[in-house]
Amino acid sequence: MNILLVGSGGREHALAWKIAASPKLTRLVAAPGNPGMAQCCEVRNVAVTDVPALVDLAREIAADLVVIGPEAAVAAGLADAMLAAGFPCFGPTAAAGRLESSKAFTKGFCDRHGLPTARYRVCEDAATAKAALAEFEAPYVIKADGLAAGKGVVVAQTRAEAEAAIDDALGGRFGAAGSRVVVEEFLDGEIGSLFALCDGRSVMLFGEAQDHKRAFDGEQGPNTGGMGTYSPAPVFTPEVIEAVRTRLVEPAFAGIAAEGAPYHGVLFVELMVTRDGPKLIEFNVRFGDPECQVLMLRLADDLVPYLEACAKGTLDQLPPPRFRDEHAVCVVLAADGYPESPVTGSIIRGANQDFGETVTVFHAGTKVDPDGTLRAAGGRVLNVCARGPTLREALDRAYAAVDRIDWPGGFCRRDIGWRALQR
Ligand code: AMP
Ligand code: GLY
Repeated sequence: MNILLVGSGGREHALAWKIAASPKLTRLVAAPGNPGMAQCCEVRNVAVTDVPALVDLAREIAADLVVIGPEAAVAAGLADAMLAAGFPCFGPTAAAGRLESSKAFTKGFCDRHGLPTARYRVCEDAATAKAALAEFEAPYVIKADGLAAGKGVVVAQTRAEAEAAIDDALGGRFGAAGSRVVVEEFLDGEIGSLFALCDGRSVMLFGEAQDHKRAFDGEQGPNTGGMGTYSPAPVFTPEVIEAVRTRLVEPAFAGIAAEGAPYHGVLFVELMVTRDGPKLIEFNVRFGDPECQVLMLRLADDLVPYLEACAKGTLDQLPPPRFRDEHAVCVVLAADGYPESPVTGSIIRGANQDFGETVTVFHAGTKVDPDGTLRAAGGRVLNVCARGPTLREALDRAYAAVDRIDWPGGFCRRDIGWRALQR
């Protein structure tokens, strides 16, 4: 098979690494890819939202399958264009993608289809949003409506902080994503990420993980796209998984199909396990980053048949995926200043050395000079991932590798997996 993979983050490097190991693969081309991905596939410098150029590229390589990594490509209608041009596509249409691209849409969707989620108000202006705070108690949760790379959410401890977050969100900081805000109830509990595949009709669970959204140790600092993950995550007991499947996953896929937009791809359910059971925090219409990295490390089966089945409507012909009975972790190395204003350009040494069979380093925001010097080129820069028989051992291996990478311009969290270790 010829496969076009769209994206350039650590998630896409992990997907490329896994796809490259498939016996079904003839040719893998990534657009735009990154220097790490260039070690396991061809890369082409086409932006993830340049839909016509990506369709041309699919034609050029006679793609048998297009795999969409990031939400921006979904929201740009890449799947719609690929399907119109006759290319099977893993990744939902823009209409189905509203489950991520608009929080206001998703909240209404939850109401229409009975999905448990936080009580909320969607507000178009600051005065209404500030007045709405009276209907909630501290801490207050303020969200920009559209896509903001995981950074559009503020959990405010005081009313003054909440009002400042409302002004900030509506004040243009998130561009069009900030034209509306959602004020919602704070959900108390433990967070988790669950993944499910859909081929338009059939549904299949595809693993779980736990992410760490805050920038600094001890859950301090601003929300980020995610600073580290581990899988399995003990918050996902069999009972929790079953509740997520019946109360969130199945009604979501059935609901979006009933609204005329059958879902082809992976749905990422970010949820809070509360005293009243799992409640939706948000849907994402793609793999999580860095959740995908730990899932790919643990996935024992070939990924490609699952991606293909989602695109072609044949998921019911596959067995459930098998994950290794091992622990996998991912430690994100981010550039100083991330998430507000990451400092790019600093030199990284030792990222591509051989760390042994149980450690894998995925690239995210990196670039390489003509002389081979590796530099930071984004917020989240490297993902140091490891497997082990216990979580502790996987973490020790990952942090030992982190300490062998010489990058004074970056930082990481040192407490990935703390909730599981504390149990
Ligand atoms: P999101 O971008 O919606 O995933 O939110 C980012 C982070 O904010 C989540 O991972 C949670 O840690 C936190 N968060 C979002 N919504 C809520 C909520 N209603 N209650 C408590 N925490 C929340
Ligand atoms: N790690 C969370 C996300 O991908 O949005």
